[in-house]
Amino acid sequence: MKIFATITETRAECRRARANGKRLGLVPTMGALHEGHLSLVRGAKAQCDTVVVSLFVNPTQFGPTEDLAKYPRPFERDRELLEKEGVAILFAPPVDEMYPKGEVTRVVVEGLSEKLDGRSRPGHFRGVTTVVSKLFHIIEPDIAFFGQKDAAQSAIIRRLVRDLNFPVEIVICPIVREPDGLAMSSSNVYLSIEDRPSALVLHRSLGVVEEKFRAGEKDAARLIAIARQVFAQKPQVRLDYFEIVDPDTLDPVERIQQPALVAVAAYVGSTRLIDNLILNPPK
Ligand code: PAJ
Repeated sequence: MKIFATITETRAECRRARANGKRLGLVPTMGALHEGHLSLVRGAKAQCDTVVVSLFVNPTQFGPTEDLAKYPRPFERDRELLEKEGVAILFAPPVDEMYPKGEVTRVVVEGLSEKLDGRSRPGHFRGVTTVVSKLFHIIEPDIAFFGQKDAAQSAIIRRLVRDLNFPVEIVICPIVREPDGLAMSSSNVYLSIEDRPSALVLHRSLGVVEEKFRAGEKDAARLIAIARQVFAQKPQVRLDYFEIVDPDTLDPVERIQQPALVAVAAYVGSTRLIDNLILNPPK
């Protein structure tokens, strides 16, 4: 695996691979890798000849009260994991390589960026779409792989690519979970032993909603009320949002007649967790 910290070297290596007829797959990450990230790498390996992983803890997507400094950075472990997966190129730039002094340009997907996580994390998606645009320009992948775990992020990236005509295909990979159902996340390491069982309430609330939906309940408000009752039984968990929205526009839906995204975010202790599920009405 070739490891680069500079844009110039990474771009040259990616261009060389493409000139040799290789299909390039990009998996953007912030490191602290787990099976969720590795599932994207495996997806990329299955569909592409050369897999590029970017590892960059992107400061512009962290809010002033969110702890950028504390974000886990186990670089050696990440490097080993990616090597084992057969990744060809690892792009791990320092902050001033991606954001040199004087840079001021931002990429914003208007509207969508203020929904779901964007409402509780102002500026977050603006940082994501800016860094992802930069990565697309640097690496010029044929396909880029993202996780359904971050459903709002996935919708926003799909819209970014469409609106700005990026010549890249976006593939969204399914959520990878712990055996007990908790969605894998780099944030899970922050959960204390006492808080860990409470974190299951996110997955459980989605399960209850799915069950009621399958039993015939199509009214979004009633489904949300049922989910809120599940959260009410766990007063130590603070619900941020529980919404049922259109998976592309992220606008709330009233009745579920088309595929709908059920998305939840909650604070377990001081750790913010998210999870989601797509409800597909029977044909
Ligand atoms: P990060 O949180 O490191 O996640 C990198 C990718 O892994 C994202 O596409 C995310 O959706 C996916 N992922 C995380 N947990 C997953 C799980 N349990 N199952 C499946 N996929 C999972 O998301 C980011 O980084 C950043 O915002 C980034 C896109 C890299 C821009 O900085």
